[in-house]
Amino acid sequence: MNCTIKLSLKNEIGKIDKRLFGSFIEHLGRAVYGGIYEPDHPTADKNGFRGDVLELVKELKVPVIRYPGGNFVSGYNWEDGTGDKALRPRKMDLAWQAVETNQVGIDEFQEWAKLTGGEIMMAVNLGTRGADEARELVEYCNGTTDTHYADMRRKNGFEEPFGIKLWCLGNEMDGAWQICAQTPYEYARKACEAAKVMKWTDDSIELVACGSSNSNSPTFGVWEETVLRECYDHIDYLSLHNYYGNRDNDSAAYLGSSLDMDSFIKRVTAICDKVKAEKNSDKQINLSFDEWNVWFHSNESDKEIPKWTVAPPQLEDIYNLEDALVVGTLLTTLIKNCDRVKIGCLAQLVNVIAPIMTEKGGKVWKQTIFYPYSHALKFARGTALQIKTEAESYTAGGKEIPYIEAAAVYNEEEKELVVFAVNRSQKDDCPLDTDFGVSTDLIRHLTVTGDDLKAENSAKAERVTETEIQLSDKVILPKQSWNVLIYKIN
Ligand code: AHR
Repeated sequence: MNCTIKLSLKNEIGKIDKRLFGSFIEHLGRAVYGGIYEPDHPTADKNGFRGDVLELVKELKVPVIRYPGGNFVSGYNWEDGTGDKALRPRKMDLAWQAVETNQVGIDEFQEWAKLTGGEIMMAVNLGTRGADEARELVEYCNGTTDTHYADMRRKNGFEEPFGIKLWCLGNEMDGAWQICAQTPYEYARKACEAAKVMKWTDDSIELVACGSSNSNSPTFGVWEETVLRECYDHIDYLSLHNYYGNRDNDSAAYLGSSLDMDSFIKRVTAICDKVKAEKNSDKQINLSFDEWNVWFHSNESDKEIPKWTVAPPQLEDIYNLEDALVVGTLLTTLIKNCDRVKIGCLAQLVNVIAPIMTEKGGKVWKQTIFYPYSHALKFARGTALQIKTEAESYTAGGKEIPYIEAAAVYNEEEKELVVFAVNRSQKDDCPLDTDFGVSTDLIRHLTVTGDDLKAENSAKAERVTETEIQLSDKVILPKQSWNVLIYKIN
């Protein structure tokens, strides 16, 4: 097996929006309580935030963090998480059947987000609530007027507005599991009116309307079309969500998951453009892939978790090497679609289907998927290039899947070309030839690989990590590997 990658610096896909590699913190499981917030932890700051977790999030430089849900947001009263902590109500969170103490809310989360250097992508509750509470939350967060909700924020100790730019109009409102799920038209009308009053409250915000909650949703297509027809002039992005898993233990098919992500993006883009044409509009709706990841390992064990406890260990998938490779292919897919996908959120960030895990009172550790995610954050900066990857394919799960999945990014500032490549073969290393049309020198080759696709990390041992490959005349993409190749342009 071998592979040739051809590209030209002139053939651009588009500039990568820095928000493409965002993440997500939901009030779910141990993401907030015991994740970012653990007042008794030895590294906790005066506000109760874990210093070790914060350091790792800062090191990653996560550009945007979606909050507070997720399914959680569809039953959430944002006021419960503001003001005097001693007076905050303990509530039943129906989405995850757990107890929410409200010791962290937007007051605290915005402080934490500021420390990370990332911006917040704030979701409003369009399940049990609607336009009124959404506009009040916008005023609370961003208001500068001498009016009730902006004053409430000031009284709570925050003179300066939080300045939250990016807002989600609810979450997965098409899903039967959602608190107060809606039909396409019901949601479209609700979202449109909420969008109007939110933008009238602060005309500088950007809005993301809910698309389908997954690529197989029964209302897929009708949902997008209806939402776009009703909301077109008032929204900026349409969302996509999808999770992948190796449920049948068919690694060859599972490693091809990104083909589904790519086709999902292309199909939603086509619907956006269809509605644009129908409306004879100059405005382009872009995409926000604001939930994506591998999620399946914890599905069965989660059924055993008792209800109505605080911060139960839900959705604590422990990832292995093959999951890291799948995450790598999903990242390359986002890069290759960056002309339309402007925002992406790896769901989630800490403990809940997450790259970062914590022990209560103990250490923080990195899952296998941490590495491809951190590489994308660090090296996928600049302009994504069109790329021709000539490689053999195999058939699995009824699909023809190329052995090599790659994307390329031109970093003009650094005069560097970065190639991201996954070798899906479980048998063969793959020699790589390149034709970049310019003279380059390979200066670094980072890889995540190993002999055991099922190797996992834990608090005790990191079996899957990044390694720097010694450079030689020939580039080899090891079997079952994620690779980052950094070339200096001469
Ligand atoms: O990320 C976990 C859950 O997945 C989110 O709460 C929901 O939006 C999705 O179904």
